[in-house]
Amino acid sequence: MSKFRKCTIAGNWKMNKAVNEAEDLASSVKREMGECSDVEIVLCPPFTALKVVGDAISESRLKLGAQNMHSEPDGAYTGEISANMLRDLFCHYVILGHSERRTYFHETDDVVNRKAKAALKANLLPIVCVGETLTERDAGCAESVVRTQLQGSLDGLGDVLDKVLVAYEPVWAIGTGRTATPETAQAMHKYIRSVLGGIGGSKADSVRILYGGSMKPDNAAALISQPDIDGGLVGGAALEARQFCEIVRAALSC
Ligand code: PGA
Repeated sequence: MSKFRKCTIAGNWKMNKAVNEAEDLASSVKREMGECSDVEIVLCPPFTALKVVGDAISESRLKLGAQNMHSEPDGAYTGEISANMLRDLFCHYVILGHSERRTYFHETDDVVNRKAKAALKANLLPIVCVGETLTERDAGCAESVVRTQLQGSLDGLGDVLDKVLVAYEPVWAIGTGRTATPETAQAMHKYIRSVLGGIGGSKADSVRILYGGSMKPDNAAALISQPDIDGGLVGGAALEARQFCEIVRAALSC
């Protein structure tokens, strides 16, 4: 582990795992990786399993994260969950602006921006997701799409940028088995860091930029050993303890 930024592997369980399954998965990860201190390991179960996963990983180094939240602190927002509610359950992290939220729930950069501000106010570390579609990449506008997402989602956060994580998740690589090559991913991560420099100056050097999109045990090391790739946001491979822990091991070897 040579990078000064702490390598971080976050498991995004999406809408998977009943409470008992979540408890089993979290306990298995804890058994294998509970004392790991060189990689920050974050488990992001669905809301319904936050409590049981939090309990299962207590007294370990594993961290808890949520997959979404509302930007308001409380009020008449049926079906929503606030940052303080997540803190109540001992969440440290929250994923914001995942492409599935942007696509299916119409989250805009402005919405993500409000959520990121609310998360930071509640002492939650936001993992802000950005990434282009295949059409956008093929049209040669991947960088401008990602730049627009970053500038909109992180507007006004320059002073606290070191408390923000970014996940670069090319939409064409999510759940498709098609991973960005390490070189393609590194090029975008480097570009993202330059955009972050425009937002937060030297704080950009401390921002952990995670790669997401079909990260698996056999491609994780090649990705994470790139200079600007500081870990991964893992979907499918996070649903099984053995695969997820292998990705953590790959990260430890980088
Ligand atoms: P995937 O998902 O690893 O299954 O591609 C990643 C994500 O959507 O965060």
